[in-house]
Amino acid sequence: MINQSIRISLLFVSATILCNCSGSKQVNKAAEKMTLRGTFKDDFLIGTALNTRQIEQKDPKAAALIPQQFDAATPENIMKAEEIHPQWGTYNFDLADKLVAYAAANNIRVNAHTLIWHSQLPAYVRRLQSADSVRQFFTEHINTLASHYDGKVYSWDVVNEALNEDGTLRKSIFLQKLGDNYIVEAFRLAQQAAPNTQLYYNDYNIEQPRKRAGAVAVVQKIQEAGVRIDGIGIQGHWRAGHVPFDEIEKSIEAFGALGIKVMFTELDLSVLPNPLNGNTADVSQTAAYNAQYNPFVAGLPDSIQQQLASDYEQLFKLFLKHKDKIGRVTFWGVNDGQSWLNDWPVRGRTNYPLLFDRQFAPKLAYYKVIESKTKS
Ligand code: XIL
Repeated sequence: MINQSIRISLLFVSATILCNCSGSKQVNKAAEKMTLRGTFKDDFLIGTALNTRQIEQKDPKAAALIPQQFDAATPENIMKAEEIHPQWGTYNFDLADKLVAYAAANNIRVNAHTLIWHSQLPAYVRRLQSADSVRQFFTEHINTLASHYDGKVYSWDVVNEALNEDGTLRKSIFLQKLGDNYIVEAFRLAQQAAPNTQLYYNDYNIEQPRKRAGAVAVVQKIQEAGVRIDGIGIQGHWRAGHVPFDEIEKSIEAFGALGIKVMFTELDLSVLPNPLNGNTADVSQTAAYNAQYNPFVAGLPDSIQQQLASDYEQLFKLFLKHKDKIGRVTFWGVNDGQSWLNDWPVRGRTNYPLLFDRQFAPKLAYYKVIESKTKS
């Protein structure tokens, strides 16, 4: 059997050969024996989103790379209500149980995603009319899942994306039928059912001032009700060249001051034009394909590769500066070919938002992330 350190070296030898990114020859000397999880082991967890094939280890390259590089994992889709609770009272625990076993075998912590979200709800929930039936779904869903996975997953995104851009509460089915205390109630139920699990609120754009103020108010309301919330997840779907570093830093400070951990939960930096207004991560907003929105099918120009790498480096320097407040940094996918950003908000594009390329080779951005720690 090939031992772990030889396997890691082999990975990087092959990565060096595969990586045609400019500048990598100079920087990968120091990085070649490093991994993400090893580099940041004293700072914060390093996570990835996992899709079904990865959880079932059907892709050998992903199966080799994931446990070397990551010590946290979030299921990309399989624990969302439409997948894990497809019919009233019927739960598909199989894949999530596999994820828990896979994670335990590889010393990876699972962040379960997500209990209460207006999106990817099963059709029967969207058809519910009465407040009583929505409340029954809400209560049973949280109780069943939170208790089944208590002690097996490390954390839950209890509520996802409850806020509008102006910081007010989104008019989801939960707000409309249960009233504006529903977030506190979700955390109260989760706390009872999962006393051994970290409980988080998760959202996109909550680094922006108005939405950040809304998120602070949500956390304070939970705390004032005497209910436990352990952390907040800033999703981190940003664009290379447009990362809002100052607002991110203000948000780490504002959320940290509430006495909870800050997580970056779905980090990716799109390099493609965004045809939508504003920098939303609202999965329901999409745009039609147009070749001008897909300029890098043949490869990423070096200038953009450099921009991506420098943005990631600056982000990780910021994370390290505030490591006392940060619990985890999770990338939304393992490699560029597997990123949701190839199909959202426009289907069928070629995006390059992550640290590993389509062949699983580390990109320049990977080495710059490692260097943010080793050269500091
Ligand atoms: C995305 C997945 O990556 C896609 O595969 C799926 O089709 C839609 O959802 N915010 C979230 C994530 O909280 O759950 C979303 O994941 C991306 C935006």
